[in-house]
Amino acid sequence: MNNIIQNTIQFVKEKLEGAEAGHDWFHIERVWKLSKKIAKSENCNLEVVELSALLHDIADPKFHNGNETLALKISREFLEKQNVDEEIIRKVLFVIQNISFKNRGEVPQDLPIELKIVQDADRIDAIGAIGIGRTFNFGGFKNNLMYHPDLKPQLNMSKDEYKKSNGTTINHFYEKLLLLKDLMNTVEGKKIAEERHDFMLIFLDQFFKEWNVD
Ligand code: ADP
Ligand code: NI
Repeated sequence: MNNIIQNTIQFVKEKLEGAEAGHDWFHIERVWKLSKKIAKSENCNLEVVELSALLHDIADPKFHNGNETLALKISREFLEKQNVDEEIIRKVLFVIQNISFKNRGEVPQDLPIELKIVQDADRIDAIGAIGIGRTFNFGGFKNNLMYHPDLKPQLNMSKDEYKKSNGTTINHFYEKLLLLKDLMNTVEGKKIAEERHDFMLIFLDQFFKEWNVD
């Protein structure tokens, strides 16, 4: 492993000390590994993929009063200190800026392959058993309800409504998680997503069976 990657791992681990369990170092580690796995079937710049995967949640706006530029600032400062080429820095910052699900309406059409790879990896970690675990953890962290029979999922929320949403954790499956499989960019990403998607459907079936005690 090259030095810059090793230094980045160290930097991210320190920065994310004490983070919510769904957005901690282990989320980053999974996204990094998934990104490398997907990258094997794609023609891409692996340094950009790895650095973007490692830095993509360095300052998630939801945990920083909505600040959407802090992650870019922190990443640029770090990468400059590591003497990374300006061209690579720009590519990494572009991925970090455009990876988020809530920004999907604003992203340019012709995406670089490195963004497609890391976005798929981040979305894969949002679904399946890990995705279920992360979502309930986040819901608990926000003190949201698990489920309420009268609160229906809200599709087509604007970016602002999505950010402010205090909906139930089960609704989050219908508002985001179940949509991700069809948003995959790469063939390998789609393959992994499909298995995890099916597992969420089984989970939801069982959840409602157990909720509706008869
Ligand atoms: P991104 O970081 O790609 O913009 P989100 O902010 O929607 O994506 O969320 C990342 C993860 O945080 C989700 O996959 C989910 O696990 C959790 N999460 C976000 N919003 C909610 C919510 N309203 N209820 C439960 N979990 C959520
Ligand atoms: Ni992430």
